[in-house]
Amino acid sequence: MRNLQEDNITEAVLQTMEGTEDPRLKEIMTSLVKHLHAFAREVGLQQDEWMRGIQYLYDAGKISTPERNEFILTSDILGLSSLVDMIKGRGVSSGTEYSALGPFFVDGAPEVPLEGNLAGDDPGTEVVLTGRVLNERSEPVEGARVDFWQTQSNGLYDVQETHEGAVPNLRCHQFTGADGRYGVRTIKPVSYKVPDDGPAGEILRSTSRTAWRPAHYHIWVNADGYLPLVTELFPGDDDWIDRDAVFAVRDSLRVSFDDTADEDEASAYGVTAPYKKVEYDFVLVAG
Ligand SMILES: [Fe+2]
Repeated sequence: MRNLQEDNITEAVLQTMEGTEDPRLKEIMTSLVKHLHAFAREVGLQQDEWMRGIQYLYDAGKISTPERNEFILTSDILGLSSLVDMIKGRGVSSGTEYSALGPFFVDGAPEVPLEGNLAGDDPGTEVVLTGRVLNERSEPVEGARVDFWQTQSNGLYDVQETHEGAVPNLRCHQFTGADGRYGVRTIKPVSYKVPDDGPAGEILRSTSRTAWRPAHYHIWVNADGYLPLVTELFPGDDDWIDRDAVFAVRDSLRVSFDDTADEDEASAYGVTAPYKKVEYDFVLVAG
């Protein structure tokens, strides 16, 4: 392994990994090295450009915190996160479509009972968000854990609030009843810009892109015997619906906010009729 040249260094690196015991790790590392080297050859990567890439990774690490992961954001804006969602969905022709997890999920969100209030005193537009968790035979799934998280009406997630006294807000989980139903009183989400004050924002600006995402609810459904479902629901008429910075919109996840005047439901959820309502059933795939 001496006197290597541009045309044989890739093979030399691959040979050093021949003894990798885990076959999947070997497959991934081999392919990664091949594609990384092919990329460098294709663009004729220069030393200062290579250093710029290294600096990007360093800066992304520096700005990342438990609440803000610049690497996930980078993956999102490069379309990699959505591509992985699509790969995950290979061969799964039924069930609700997957969508982005995004960088703002926080483990340990409080439990809010069915028909409970997720929005606290946020002044946004009141919405009843409800529906059922079903299996592929349209039967209710009881005891499914449904996690919700979304922006406040100021366009920020609670974890982006830096003022003193900021508290967890607009994130919760609940468990479906025997009828598979979930339901929260919440607010209409608003369009927002992904954080563009770090290295990912530099990519967006320097490639003439926008940081905007259409408004959305984040939802993660988990139930024993089923594949986890990470997805989003989008107001169908959002201005940014066709220009999502992270490529996560699916037609099947577009919802309408219907004016509803059901007095019984209004009183159960503690809203005033008429109110906006989103009804959406999530379909889990056995696995
Ligand atoms: Fe989001």
